[in-house]
Amino acid sequence: MSVHSLTVVGGGNGAHVLAAVAGSRGFEVRLWAPIPEEAAALKKGVAQNGYVEAVSGENSFKAVPAIISAEPAEVIPGSGIIIFVLPAFAHKELLLQAVQYLDKGCILGAIPSRSGFEFMAKSILNDTVTIFGVQTLPWACRIKSYGRQVEILGTKNKVTASSSPASEAIKICVLLQELLGIEVIPAPNMLALTLGNVGQIIHPGIMYGLFYRWKGNPFSETEIPLFYQGVTEEIGLILTDISREIMDVKEAIEKEGISLEGVVSLNEWLLSSYENSIADTSTLKGCFNTNTSYRGLKAPVKKIGEDGYMPDFSSRYLTEDIPHGLVVTRALAQLTGIHTPVIDEVLGVTSGWMRKEYLVNGYLQGKDVPLTPIPQNYGINDIQGLIRAIV
Ligand code: NAI
Repeated sequence: MSVHSLTVVGGGNGAHVLAAVAGSRGFEVRLWAPIPEEAAALKKGVAQNGYVEAVSGENSFKAVPAIISAEPAEVIPGSGIIIFVLPAFAHKELLLQAVQYLDKGCILGAIPSRSGFEFMAKSILNDTVTIFGVQTLPWACRIKSYGRQVEILGTKNKVTASSSPASEAIKICVLLQELLGIEVIPAPNMLALTLGNVGQIIHPGIMYGLFYRWKGNPFSETEIPLFYQGVTEEIGLILTDISREIMDVKEAIEKEGISLEGVVSLNEWLLSSYENSIADTSTLKGCFNTNTSYRGLKAPVKKIGEDGYMPDFSSRYLTEDIPHGLVVTRALAQLTGIHTPVIDEVLGVTSGWMRKEYLVNGYLQGKDVPLTPIPQNYGINDIQGLIRAIV
């Protein structure tokens, strides 16, 4: 097993970029594309093109994967590092498929890991491998030609990562830096990634703000709201409240002696992540409305009828960021006794849209809770259990 032998798990935008970037930086790349049609299309694309390529402005990263397969048995054995780069709702099923093929001593993680990955992955992998997570995908990216070329629209200067056991974080960050070619900053533990997941604030919060008054009437194409530029003062206040409730949970956990350094308010995160692309930093509304990285992006909608549209409640902004984001934070609030009225309101409305049930009578006891990676689903029912779980 070589630590420079990487299995990329996924067949989407991020998987294309990671394969091309890591391969161009000297890693042996194997691709586990779990959907057989995608594995076949990737093989075909690479065979015809000669490589998979990620293009970023003038720069190009190319790699020739050593193996492409839909079968974990053909890809994973011998890999020193396995990275999941696909939506969080696919993580559990694929971890269950992968576990029997992992070499002892390998490291396995997710980019991005989303909230609760550590609890779920640990329960499936036990202590046989080191688990890690990177808080965000380093790239905004879209496939141009499947199996051949992906476009990198933007690259973050730095990302945060951590591991379980947490003592391995610095070593893993050094390896990830070599692999990704950007700065990777260690967080004290994976719980800091879980709570610091800003997607859980931004995506459900804006969806709620844009559509909680929607009465079910279709709207026309010209009426489709902008997503980030559609943030009003009212939505800015909702986002501020969600962020403040998360910071309350952070404070309660830190009082127990766990460091959650790096978990910051939404405002602080926006200013540090988009320092140079926001024109008006005076309010959250200004931060979203005048951020050039967010310009022109519309709310997710789907077509109904001839020329009518409705909000797309099956969007990943909800299906990923609620169960693998806000629900996990709500579970941590439950563990620490912190009240989260605004998160509860957003969860209530958005889960209704998705026909899911999480909060019932103020507790996470709805029928869909067992499918989420909350600590309570892994036997962690008090703060002491949480402390033991995150070392
Ligand atoms: P994607 O939409 O390209 O990924 C879809 C792919 O994931 C599918 O093509 C398939 O290969 C795999 N997949 C999905 N469900 C599966 C299942 N049930 N079983 C097996 N495979 C399954 O996703 P993308 O764009 O690569 O994003 C990956 C992650 O990065 C997501 O969490 C996304 O929210 C996040 N992200 C993506 C950004 C981007 O610009 N693409 C930007 C920031 C975050």
